[in-house]
Amino acid sequence: MSTQKVAVVTGGNKGIGYGIVKGLCERFDGVVYLTARDSERGKAAVSKLEKEHNLKPVFRQLDITDQNSVDNFKEFIKKEHGGLDILINNAAIAFKVSAPEPMSVQAKETIRVNYFGTLRVCDALFPLLRNNAKVVNVSSSAGHLYRIPSEEIRREFSKKDLTVFELNKLVEKFVKAAENGKTVEDGWGSSTYVVSKVAVSALTNIQQKMFDEEVPNRNISVNSVHPGYVNTDMTSHKGPLSIEEGAKSSLFAALDANLKGKYIWYDCKVVDWFTNSAPSN
Ligand SMILES: NC(=O)c1ccc[n+]([C@@H]2O[C@H](COP(=O)([O-])OP(=O)(O)OC[C@H]3O[C@@H](n4cnc5c(N)ncnc54)[C@H](OP(=O)(O)O)[C@@H]3O)[C@@H](O)[C@H]2O)c1
Repeated sequence: MSTQKVAVVTGGNKGIGYGIVKGLCERFDGVVYLTARDSERGKAAVSKLEKEHNLKPVFRQLDITDQNSVDNFKEFIKKEHGGLDILINNAAIAFKVSAPEPMSVQAKETIRVNYFGTLRVCDALFPLLRNNAKVVNVSSSAGHLYRIPSEEIRREFSKKDLTVFELNKLVEKFVKAAENGKTVEDGWGSSTYVVSKVAVSALTNIQQKMFDEEVPNRNISVNSVHPGYVNTDMTSHKGPLSIEEGAKSSLFAALDANLKGKYIWYDCKVVDWFTNSAPSN
């Protein structure tokens, strides 16, 4: 079994994930796994990094919504390395404003990928985290608490003793509201992406608390980041930031910062998530 350090990025074949893989290959002293749900796209991204930048990430297939794929990946990492030092949960989806799918379908799918997919990867890989490991959950400015209109729902998301079980129930309640066409009436607002990312930020808070309480001496950190508005397929290339700029906050959280359970923006500043108003920057 190899003793080298190990970093894993989900959704690494394009966009910000690709930028994060690139940055890790440049700066991290260890093996960097570029994972992607589609093997062809993943291998093409690895070839591109090799050819254009002389970097050598390693490709592994990983679909965050597929339990078999996640289990296979976990077994591979366990057998090959026995542990993991950096996990960047970057993979996500966002329906376009013009998408024809009804809100009910968009809500179910967005929560399934962005929230439950991220949770599935964490559940599988957290037992492999080594001492001093860093986990980064890529959230969004849309993942700030204040983006939920209802004060009562905000209170539930930000409850200090919120559990994963309760958070799962909360997002399921949102999916139900979407099925009934009542998200606005019930106080969730009209964006499925917002709810999925607020849930990812809330999950980050719970995960850090769990590590702090259960294994305080192991110095494991979990932070969420807002990468900025980035020029990727997700934004239809309208974002002004490059993918390298979009990768900055994730690389900062994984390689430079000594922060725990924080919500970090693209300029690497910590933003208070537990407030009911928009951040000033
Ligand atoms: N771009 C922005 O301005 C912005 C702003 C705030 C937050 N973010 C967040 O930043 C992260 C990256 O966004 P991006 O702009 O780079 O998006 P992107 O260009 O659409 O890339 C998304 C990546 O996630 C992958 N993915 C989707 N579903 C997956 C699944 N089930 N399993 C594994 N991988 C999956 C995609 O793979 P395929 O190629 O196979 O589809 C792709 O590699 C996301 O978490 C996003 O919410 C982005």
